[in-house]
Amino acid sequence: MNWLLVSLFSSLFLSARSVRIAPRVLILSMFSPEASVWYNIPEFNVLAQNISVPGLSPLFPEVHCTKNGSICQLTTGEGEINAASTVAALLHSSAFDLRTTYFLIAGIAGVNPKVATIGSVTFARYAVHVGLQFEIDAREIPANFPTGYFPQGTTAPGQYPIHLYGTEVFEMNENLRQLAFRLAKTAEPQLNDTTDCRAARAPYSAAPQFAAAGGSPSVVLCDTATSDTFWSGTLLAEAFENTTKLFTNQSAEYCTTQQEDSATLNALLRGALTKTVDFSRIIVMRSAANFDRSPPGESAVTILLGPAPRFVPSVLNLYIAGAKIVQAIVSGWKDFEGGVKATNYVGDIFGSLGGQPDFGPGSMFGGKAAKV
Ligand SMILES: *[C@@H]1O[C@H](CO)[C@@H](O)[C@H](O)[C@H]1NC(C)=O
Ligand SMILES: *[C@@H]1O[C@H](CO)[C@@H](O)[C@H](O)[C@H]1NC(C)=O
Ligand SMILES: *[C@@H]1O[C@H](CO)[C@@H](O)[C@H](O)[C@H]1NC(C)=O
Ligand SMILES: *[C@@H]1O[C@H](CO)[C@@H](O)[C@H](O)[C@H]1NC(C)=O
Ligand SMILES: *[C@@H]1O[C@H](CO)[C@@H](O)[C@H](O)[C@H]1NC(C)=O
Repeated sequence: MNWLLVSLFSSLFLSARSVRIAPRVLILSMFSPEASVWYNIPEFNVLAQNISVPGLSPLFPEVHCTKNGSICQLTTGEGEINAASTVAALLHSSAFDLRTTYFLIAGIAGVNPKVATIGSVTFARYAVHVGLQFEIDAREIPANFPTGYFPQGTTAPGQYPIHLYGTEVFEMNENLRQLAFRLAKTAEPQLNDTTDCRAARAPYSAAPQFAAAGGSPSVVLCDTATSDTFWSGTLLAEAFENTTKLFTNQSAEYCTTQQEDSATLNALLRGALTKTVDFSRIIVMRSAANFDRSPPGESAVTILLGPAPRFVPSVLNLYIAGAKIVQAIVSGWKDFEGGVKATNYVGDIFGSLGGQPDFGPGSMFGGKAAKV
């Protein structure tokens, strides 16, 4: 082959490569059990093309997409650092055009038995970074502290944080959330459940404050709390219930606990600042795998260290409920292409994307979008 042919072929190859994939939906999983529920399903095949992206987790180095690129799936790795690093790398990849992509965060979580039960699928308006606080070991706290956690820059639990980092609260597009909720609700009768899960719910049902923990898996609207530390037990759960309310000026009540969403959302917010992504196209879907505290009369370690991981229904239910959302967006694209208009504040606690947050001290940018 002479050099002319070589250069012709290589330029053809390059131009083919430079056609960027513009997914209509990108599913974000955090670890293999969440990812695998999207593989080998009748609705679509995200293993039709695998795209290597520099900077992804070495455990999950490829973005998986359908042949026509309309649906993609990516596994971030677990914990805040993996989530933020992976999503940031994706946003810098020239293989993708994500400006009109809907992001479906689809992971399992701990659940607050006051609000929902295991197997349920939830949609969050607020993601609250509850782990971002001062902490003193509970054995060394002053006698008047109900917990060892207190907001940064404060002198006791319950005080509004003085030092904000910007990742404390993210608010999602409420109209999109309601739409996702209604679509997922159509799959409610099909949600998976097991005798294992029913048995795990039983000890809660007797306690009136945990009435929501009884019954079958359902689709629920409620907020999510992020912490790298996988906590368990009534006292920490109540402390973080308080933090969730405090950080959002009483607007949010957490039902799910997880280790990534605030990190993922911060990476997406950075992308939104440069119009790489649209922050009003994010759906935070978390299904409940385990209770975040033990039932009355049981020690705090029971749930954490007890037998049988019960996450089969929760991972399956991400797919059962989530597929309805993915299919509605992909097949109804003419209604989704221009976006689902948000009528609430959408963004972070600093007001970086413009507008006035309905929580926190107010916009740091005078209500305008930050200049980047
Ligand atoms: C692309 O593929 C998906 C499923 O693989 C399908 O639902 C969709 O109709 C196809 N076409 C477009 C334009 O997205
Ligand atoms: C994509 O990767 C998966 C494994 O992660 C593999 O099963 C599948 O065959 C790959 N697809 C292609 C087109 O190579
Ligand atoms: C839930 O999924 C498990 C594992 O696939 C299956 O054995 C069981 O029959 C399913 N239950 C329901 C109610 O769909
Ligand atoms: C949560 O807040 C309430 C009301 O301020 C307080 O009574 C309770 O002690 C707090 N709980 C924890 C664990 O911080
Ligand atoms: C939220 O609460 C804090 C502390 O009370 C207060 O300083 C702030 O102005 C409140 N923000 C809004 C938007 O109400």
